[in-house]
Amino acid sequence: MHHIAILTSIAVLAGALGSQSLKGQTLRDVAGDRLRIGAALMARDLDNPRYADLLATQLNCVTPENELKGDATQPAPGRFSFERADKIVDFAQRHQMKVIGHTLLWHQQSPRWLFETPDGKPLPREIALANLRERITTMLTHYRGKIAGWDVVNEALSDSPNEYLRDTPARRAIGDDYIIQAFRIAQEADPDVELYYNDYNIELPYKHAKAMRLLRELKDAGVRVDAVGVQGHWQLGSPSVKEIDDSIKAFASLDIRVMITELDVDVLPRQRSGADLSATEEGANPYVNGLPADVAEKQAERYRAIFDMLGKHIREGTITRVTFWGLTDGQSWLNGFPVRGRTNHPLLWDRDYQPKPAFDAALESLRSTMTK
Ligand code: G3I
Repeated sequence: MHHIAILTSIAVLAGALGSQSLKGQTLRDVAGDRLRIGAALMARDLDNPRYADLLATQLNCVTPENELKGDATQPAPGRFSFERADKIVDFAQRHQMKVIGHTLLWHQQSPRWLFETPDGKPLPREIALANLRERITTMLTHYRGKIAGWDVVNEALSDSPNEYLRDTPARRAIGDDYIIQAFRIAQEADPDVELYYNDYNIELPYKHAKAMRLLRELKDAGVRVDAVGVQGHWQLGSPSVKEIDDSIKAFASLDIRVMITELDVDVLPRQRSGADLSATEEGANPYVNGLPADVAEKQAERYRAIFDMLGKHIREGTITRVTFWGLTDGQSWLNGFPVRGRTNHPLLWDRDYQPKPAFDAALESLRSTMTK
């Protein structure tokens, strides 16, 4: 009996040490200089030392989740506000982390006066273009040398089957070339900064062809697009790894890099995929008291399959960044979307900052990619 107890203790200790040595390694260690591995964060997260410490240890790159958007940076015509974003940039610089700018032009969280009259009519093209130029030039000048790359335009493609571009205030005021104009202004304002087009569901057949068309049109217009951002708001069962893989290969065929920019794996039931913030739903909230072990395991296998597939593209230099949309489950936007007030568990760390099985899976997969 005594011997069995001792042997059991040794086995438990060895197991703990084994997982300790795995857990002792961080995503940042494993990624090295070859991959930017990041997360979105809000300035207020930095007031929490545990959160800040986990970010700096695990990642080499951050994206301000809301602080660089139009409404956060342009509170009134002619006025810019950088304080909250600057706090994130300062933190990143102290910890030798890159910063990604999100976003210069988006139809959400953007001041109406940029492209509309007070009564909601489109502004004349020249005035709208001047407002766009002021926004992009001011942002790029303030963050020159501090932000590595920008989502120049976010979510410009329509979700409707028969429509190419989304109907947005910028498009109504400027015309269909507003995306080309935004990239052109950005490359003039800072020739050294990386420029990205970012969208959700562009790995899915219904939207992929539109993304290919847009990227080709931008190329034909002679503007520089360094990478396409595939947001990666995915679920346990969809999209298939093959769909994601095929779309990355197709983007790479345009001689463009691909970044996974907003990765999370939703574990709750929902009707539609993607991130159209107007498409809210009703739905069940089954994991209020924690994620059951079998679902946590399924999620880990899902992350492993995704990272295994990304591995080959990382080695070939097509995928140069993977960013999670948040760090711990408690902070994720998916607690409020598409159903308000649920308890979601989409990320690698739980609400108590503990790594989940998904963390081990992602780390193991990435480690094997980087050592091949
Ligand atoms: O900060 C205010 C707070 O002062 C106020 O009391 C509260 C009341 O609602 O709102 C707070 O602002 C919210 C903000 O997040 C910060 O929490 C906004 O209402 C809310 O709309 C905003 O949601 C963000 C959403 O984009 C819209 O901007 C999410 O945090 C953010 O995760 C989400 O991120 C988007 C990407 O930018 C683009 N791709 C899809 C992705 C997920 O929707």
